[in-house]
Amino acid sequence: MAITAEIRVGETKLELPVVVGTEAEVGVDIGALRDKTGAITLDPGYGNTGACESAITFLDGERGILRYRGYPIEQLAGPASFLEVAWLLLKGELPNAAELAALVAAEKANRALPAHVERLLAALPQQTHPMAMLSSAVVTLSAAYGEGDGAIAGLPANQLRLLAQLPTLAACIYRRSQGLDFVPPDANRGYAANFLHMMFAGTAKATDDAAIATAMDLLFILHADHEQNCSTSTVRLVGSSQADYFASIASGVCALWGPLHGGANQAVIEMLDEVVRHGGNVQWAVGQAKEKGSHFRLMGFGHRVYKNFDPRAKIIKVQADLVLGKLGQDDAQLDLAKGLEQAALADDYFVQRKLYPNVDFYSGIIYRAMGFPQEMFTVLFAIGRLPGWTAHWNEHNAGKARIGRPRQIYTGKNARDFVALADR
Ligand code: ACO
Repeated sequence: MAITAEIRVGETKLELPVVVGTEAEVGVDIGALRDKTGAITLDPGYGNTGACESAITFLDGERGILRYRGYPIEQLAGPASFLEVAWLLLKGELPNAAELAALVAAEKANRALPAHVERLLAALPQQTHPMAMLSSAVVTLSAAYGEGDGAIAGLPANQLRLLAQLPTLAACIYRRSQGLDFVPPDANRGYAANFLHMMFAGTAKATDDAAIATAMDLLFILHADHEQNCSTSTVRLVGSSQADYFASIASGVCALWGPLHGGANQAVIEMLDEVVRHGGNVQWAVGQAKEKGSHFRLMGFGHRVYKNFDPRAKIIKVQADLVLGKLGQDDAQLDLAKGLEQAALADDYFVQRKLYPNVDFYSGIIYRAMGFPQEMFTVLFAIGRLPGWTAHWNEHNAGKARIGRPRQIYTGKNARDFVALADR
């Protein structure tokens, strides 16, 4: 039976068209609402607003489902490589062997940064947050590449370049913050292994363990897309003004930075450190999180969409055990996180509000074990999320590409006359 929707605003009744997605999601198309009734919808936080139709990622928060282009995340994380997943998100299908070989070769050949980037990073104060450095550097890449020229290995040239250069940029940012010399990319290493090499070569954190590079690659896959989250919506919105590709991605980096979004992975570690300062008492943290007005949240817990479990968190929890075991590291922090998860999941406050660990709860523990400082965690998220941002930017621009421009309900003063300075 066809679904219909009807709305009455005052005396005006309006029948609204309904859009049904391929997974039976229902959207009421309110496009005619303002013209026909004078009213708009009000949805702060956009919890009930579909900003677009999209064929990239399907997410069902109630059933804990995440699929890229139809493929369940559980089937991609492991057998597929990050570059395969990037191609899948960008092109809509998995690459065949020739396409993947061309992509891998092109990625290796395009890792070097334009000369101005090193000068730009060197000009910024050493204590600049890595996410500020990253967004600044990304937005200036158009200075070297302009609008881009044709395709490389089947991808728009600038999109291939950024895919190849984001890890180089991240490693340069890290080494600059540590006062270390930059390490050039190594074309004999794959995507994640080369990144770890550029980050840690010549330091005590250097490792050639293939399992660690594989774990890094898998973490990138888990972060690769998540439909209309804050940073992706930002990329689409900025792109809708026809801002250039690098500017749109830089805006996504900025949106990701906040602790309620990608910055949560850093905030989780800071929170666990605070629990340690309180004698490792997880009940203290649970109590604080429940306290209205304490402004303390269990970081890495809760999600706007997942209300049962976050499938990425399940995979990451297993990885945390593997990586820490492999690196032979003290897993006191992992045990603390597991204890905190257990205490929260047994607590009515979290049960009633359907708050579960999200992707960030365990990722920070793995990153720290690998040797990344906390300030770099969100940069790692950005490397992973780049294919998703790019796929959404492409999808938006391939469509009718109307500029994104929400309305508002004004609640300020009514019209009043200007008062001269002497009379105020
Ligand atoms: N700790 C304690 N209470 C929480 C938490 C939390 N982590 N998350 C939500 N709540 C409570 C809220 O206080 C609210 O309680 P109330 O109904 O009594 O007022 C209720 O649960 C609903 O929370 P909202 O803030 O309305 O949920 P929203 O969907 O707006 O926020 C968000 C989602 C931002 C992820 C939130 O759960 C949060 O702040 N979590 C911690 C930060 C975090 O981990 N962010 C990463 C998200 S995943 C990602 O972006 C990659």
